[in-house]
Amino acid sequence: MRDSFNITGLGGERKLKGEIRVGGAKNHALKLFAASVLCETPLTLENVPAIEDIERMTEIIEKLGGAVVRETDQVRIDTKKMSTGEIDRDTAKKMRASIVLTGPLLARFGATSFPHPGGDVIGERPIDFFIEGFEKMGATVEVTEQEYKLVAKNGLKGADIFFRWISVTATETLMMAAALAKGQTTLRNVAMEPEVVDLAEFLVSAGAQIKGIGTPTLIIEGGAMLRPIKPHAVLPDRIETGSFLILGALAATDLRITHCEPEHVRMLIELLLRSGVEIKVERDTLHIKNAADCVRRAMTLKTHEYPGFPTDLQAPMMVYLTQANGESRVFETVFEGRLAYTEDLVRMGADITLWNPHQASVKGPTPLRSATLESPDIRAGLAFLIAALIATGTSTLENVYHIDRGYAQIEERFRKLGADIKRVSK
Ligand code: EPU
Repeated sequence: MRDSFNITGLGGERKLKGEIRVGGAKNHALKLFAASVLCETPLTLENVPAIEDIERMTEIIEKLGGAVVRETDQVRIDTKKMSTGEIDRDTAKKMRASIVLTGPLLARFGATSFPHPGGDVIGERPIDFFIEGFEKMGATVEVTEQEYKLVAKNGLKGADIFFRWISVTATETLMMAAALAKGQTTLRNVAMEPEVVDLAEFLVSAGAQIKGIGTPTLIIEGGAMLRPIKPHAVLPDRIETGSFLILGALAATDLRITHCEPEHVRMLIELLLRSGVEIKVERDTLHIKNAADCVRRAMTLKTHEYPGFPTDLQAPMMVYLTQANGESRVFETVFEGRLAYTEDLVRMGADITLWNPHQASVKGPTPLRSATLESPDIRAGLAFLIAALIATGTSTLENVYHIDRGYAQIEERFRKLGADIKRVSK
């Protein structure tokens, strides 16, 4: 279903007010679902977000023979009866994150496959690190017209792997594969995002041997299948937290963001404080209070691996910068092509110059006006929703499936703050 949103903007006024609760992190829950393949006893997860990407992951695991039972935000996954490593190609094509399943499946079943990823709206996203890593661990890779077929008949073996570029999903995938491989695997120059660190800690709690967690080098001693001993909670979504902070800075008089982990959005908090936003940081709550006449300052923003500024908040932050005083510069260093959405903000009245696929400058503040927009990906989709909420007039945001992929019932949650958003189902 291609639903759309009709959004009546606040015309630059700050009017939203209230409390919003942060859900579980998409990019953590998906990896914990994949880790269930490594477990010989059922895995129970808590704080699992009710989003489309989790639905897709559930479908894939069920098609592989796993049993997934959901009760509110708790999910129990039992993969004991799983008998194949063949991921459903159509679903995998729709959701690149399903690639994290290849590690656990190859390690457990000795074979798996994955469709060609191709380019997507945030640019070319190669999978060479996965392929090279699996080859080093003893797998053979056959490339067919449709997919990559990976085979490790006698199981995977430990290897020493250096990532030429820091990659979140490649780190997670090879770390999970190494947990069941024979011997020791060393992964160097790994991602250190909170979701990666917590995934490693979960694996250890279920019996894996991993040293160096939270550092750039992970040493994994392969062993038997895992046995989770207690339910594991999905981390609060730091991208939701950050997006709500940005919305609050732009459009709220008084906003409390609850059930979050402020330390995970420290970089954004520092930047917003420096720009002139008043934020009170409590244990698991962030509180924004806006004076009616507050003025925001421009800044230089560079996306970076954690704890740097997350690329997934670059688009919402761009909207913020359209309202900041002066000229801001934005460097997208993680993905090529993740600034393409700025064209639509320009149509809304933003003064953004795209210098090259990695670099933009923004002059502000410029009032934004309504437009008909189409959500290109999860994060730019949410940025458009924020832009429409501060614009004058009524905007239409099409293809909100991309927003539903990553944010649960966002329109209802924003409506409770006073936003005027209607979902139109086609
Ligand atoms: N890269 C390669 N070869 C590979 C893998 C990655 O060259 O084999 C490059 C990428 O092209 C990119 C860089 O490495 O230039 C870093 O990308 P990374 O692999 O870290 O991204 P990812 O693991 O595919 C995850 C999140 C993204 C998030 C990035 C960066 C998941 C499921 N996805 O992607 O989230 O933007 O890390 O933090 O965890 C989203 O949720 O909307 C999203 C895109």
